[in-house]
Amino acid sequence: MPDLSHFDPVDLPHASRLVNHGPTVLVTSAHGGRANVMAAAWSMPVEFTPPRIAVVIDKRTWTRELVLASGAFGLCVPGAALVDLTHAVGSCSGRAVDKIARHGIATRPGPVLGVPVIEAGCAAWLECRLIREPHTEDAYDTCFGEVVAAAADRRIFAGGHWTFRDDNAALQTIHHLGGGHFVRAGGTLRAAPL
Ligand SMILES: Cc1cc2nc3c(=O)[nH]c(=O)nc-3n(C[C@H](O)[C@H](O)[C@H](O)COP(=O)(O)O)c2cc1C
Repeated sequence: MPDLSHFDPVDLPHASRLVNHGPTVLVTSAHGGRANVMAAAWSMPVEFTPPRIAVVIDKRTWTRELVLASGAFGLCVPGAALVDLTHAVGSCSGRAVDKIARHGIATRPGPVLGVPVIEAGCAAWLECRLIREPHTEDAYDTCFGEVVAAAADRRIFAGGHWTFRDDNAALQTIHHLGGGHFVRAGGTLRAAPL
């Protein structure tokens, strides 16, 4: 079978750029033979080397339970075509329903930790090892992860840079405004020297 994926690995020093602009992400997780996905609007890079990111995963979510049990999670960056799916997986718990099966979401194992990551409809993914914080785990919803692998769809991210064009609108990242309203990235501006 030919590899039809449009994804290329992203050098880890460039991985922070995948979430630097604040896209809503899909947090993927798996443990004990079960996998799950939820939406998260709150994630950001926090360290350069090694690259580390923070993501808010509510203590009450099933994702949180799976992430703590497995010590790993994925951050997948959905394109605009996945806006309905993103909202749907952020609106019910995997404890109640197998969201991956219900929505027919195709996943593949990440190359380092085997965390399920989503490529179809996504612009990028990051595979992350949970940084355990036993002294704060009970108090805070924020989780920290070290990015151990990353990849992006070359039609929208290549050479360490996003390129938003008319012909890749379906892959452009989405940013949550609240209440199921999103804005799609685009309309980029290039700062000129003053
Ligand atoms: C657009 C959107 C953004 C969200 N952002 C976050 C977030 O940043 N952190 C969080 O803990 N929950 C967030 N949620 C809520 C979770 O996705 C939601 O609680 C989900 O049902 C948890 O699923 P789980 O129990 O299967 O893990 C968001 C929901 C939506 C729709």
